[in-house]
Amino acid sequence: MEIVILDDARDIGRLGADAVGALLRRRPDAVLGLATGSSPLAVYDELAARCAAGEVSFARARGFTLDEYVGLAADHPESYRNVIDTAFVSRVDFAPGTVQGPDGLAADIPAACAAYEADIAAAGGIDLQILGIGTDGHIGFNEPGSSLASRTRIKTLTRQTRLDNARFFDGDLDAVPTHCLTQGLGTIMSARHAVLIATGAGKAEAVHQMVEGPVSAMWPGTVLQHHPHVTVLLDRAAAGRLQLAEYYRETYRSKPRWQGL
Ligand code: GLP
Repeated sequence: MEIVILDDARDIGRLGADAVGALLRRRPDAVLGLATGSSPLAVYDELAARCAAGEVSFARARGFTLDEYVGLAADHPESYRNVIDTAFVSRVDFAPGTVQGPDGLAADIPAACAAYEADIAAAGGIDLQILGIGTDGHIGFNEPGSSLASRTRIKTLTRQTRLDNARFFDGDLDAVPTHCLTQGLGTIMSARHAVLIATGAGKAEAVHQMVEGPVSAMWPGTVLQHHPHVTVLLDRAAAGRLQLAEYYRETYRSKPRWQGL
């Protein structure tokens, strides 16, 4: 894992956008994995600005979102399909229909999950997966206890995650769905490059566990320790509990430029 500790969200946005931009220059038809949540917003803002300036194009790219609530109406503003459209997809030049997500309204949920996995595979797999992390260490919606080899499936949200996300539902915990569909940890591990973003002191323990703790289903993000290419973009607060923070800073400062992210 490469740990990059930055001053603020703007710097995170720039570096995350650099990684996506470099990929799209190398491979204009790249497949992106898109996370919702507040963490990636700085990256999406920066990419939208660069797209408007003609510096990056998604015209030949494809996208797959990480997860979706079960049972939210298609026009509900908090369905992740609509969240990612508003936050990112509608602000850049993806061709219509090239970004898809798991179908949280499917009558046959297992079939919809299997179809999602098949669609990702048919697209050639995900080149770059953008990730956030929950305060309990979940990535996607893979809550503690998730199989480290899991694929896209239905999960029950923890009370903590529902409390964390109640802010998007006018603070009404009862309005937050109890179930979700999420790419599994095995699905996320199949991406060729993962870029995980975390900001704020509330994420410091989850980040410490993910980077420096033992690999365990209790902290699902720790599975990324087994991935050969993970970039972790942090602000100072999210890096606040890292034992080797100085080493990570020194490593990044002295990194050969040709390595990129
Ligand atoms: C949600 C999403 C995750 C996201 C996490 C953190 O539960 N399913 O993909 O990483 O929350 O969200 P935020 O970035 O808003 O803190």
